[in-house]
Amino acid sequence: MSLYLDHLATLQQQAASALERTGFDTLVIASGIEKYAFLDDRPYLFQPNPHFKHWVPLTNHPHSWIAVRPGRKPRVVYYQPDDYWHVPPSAPSGEWVDAVELVVIREPAEAAKALADVVTSRTAIVGEADAALPGLVPNNPEPLLNLLHWARGVKTPYELVQMRTASRRAAPAHRAAREAFLAGGSEADIHRAYLVASGHTDRDLPYTNIVCLNEHCAVLHYQYQDASRPTESRSFLLDAGAQVNGYASDITRTWVNTAQPGHDDFAALIAAMDVEQQGLVDEVRDGVDYRDIHLSAHRRTARLLRAAGIVHMSEEAMVEEGVTKPFFPHGIGHLLGLQVHDVGGFMASETGGVADKPEGHRYLRLTRPLQAGMVVTIEPGLYFIPMLLRELRASRHAAHVDWAAVERLSRYGGIRIEDDVVCRGAGEAPENLTRDAFATEAVI
Ligand code: GLY
Ligand code: MN
Ligand code: MN
Repeated sequence: MSLYLDHLATLQQQAASALERTGFDTLVIASGIEKYAFLDDRPYLFQPNPHFKHWVPLTNHPHSWIAVRPGRKPRVVYYQPDDYWHVPPSAPSGEWVDAVELVVIREPAEAAKALADVVTSRTAIVGEADAALPGLVPNNPEPLLNLLHWARGVKTPYELVQMRTASRRAAPAHRAAREAFLAGGSEADIHRAYLVASGHTDRDLPYTNIVCLNEHCAVLHYQYQDASRPTESRSFLLDAGAQVNGYASDITRTWVNTAQPGHDDFAALIAAMDVEQQGLVDEVRDGVDYRDIHLSAHRRTARLLRAAGIVHMSEEAMVEEGVTKPFFPHGIGHLLGLQVHDVGGFMASETGGVADKPEGHRYLRLTRPLQAGMVVTIEPGLYFIPMLLRELRASRHAAHVDWAAVERLSRYGGIRIEDDVVCRGAGEAPENLTRDAFATEAVI
């Protein structure tokens, strides 16, 4: 059986079990609708329901639906309007077509008729409220969603192939972006170089590229792409991914301008961070509590700060007193898949509940124990963020900080290194999708 058909069979099994356990007989999923700017006729970029693209590799298909019944082929209601203003979805093609019962509709409202025979009083309808049609009103039952969201944490072999490919698509684009940085390009120039090399347009990216030069590297989710060329290009942080059949990669690299002298301190800090990041990646193991990897990242940050002479405290005291937090003020990573921040990271069990964050670590996005087949990011950072440094300077720990070093390094903004990592079976080392992709010369 092909990987896709195998994936579909797994989803069928998961859905059948979830329906039975929660008292439903049918699962109907809406792909979503296009949304418009207020008082305008311009649509926002379409964001498909991740549950829909889990079943079929269709990412640009509003007003489509899928119906799942145990023991039956899924029915895909495929919206393909007659439209001369836009390019309508092309005729259905691909491996999924033979695996489903296909119904093509020309008007959104026709979906209600195309699904009338499958909808019962025990139908779970998963979708946004505004996708509703008469007789097809999303009810999003939480007990059912909990089971599906929990299951989504573990990827099928088909999904891992999509995610390997998404990393391979981004890796050469990261290289091209670095070249543009070394050539003195603006953030906007670098962004364009990334798009060209990835073959993506802005519409295709799994999230808006975070393209930072110099002090901008200190802004965690810096949202602009400055069009002006910097007078000096010292440092470059790029957080950018790619998308393949609806699956994302999420990759960050930080570079220093090696073409100029005088940046040795920051270059050494990046190199030391790279070693610690790879140590953290190696901690991604079946059964490990991801919260412990986050806490390990703080211990490693303390080691870096001490070795670089930035903070003069013992590593234990630094972590104990929270002095690493202003330098590393986000979580160590998250689940990755159909969504960049994939769903289900805080679930206590498959039936729901919340697995707490470690006290004082509010931005951690994954608190579940790791299981073989999960894909997570590992993205430690070390930043010089003026707002947080001001607080540190006003605290009782200020005397332990070398403020001259902080000022010198603040010109570079900060460092983040982010890889996408597959947790494997007991005793097995993790698979690093990102490093493997950089090691492969494949250009897709
Ligand atoms: N690109 C967003 C993140 O790393 O979580
Ligand atoms: Mn990430
Ligand atoms: Mn990222």
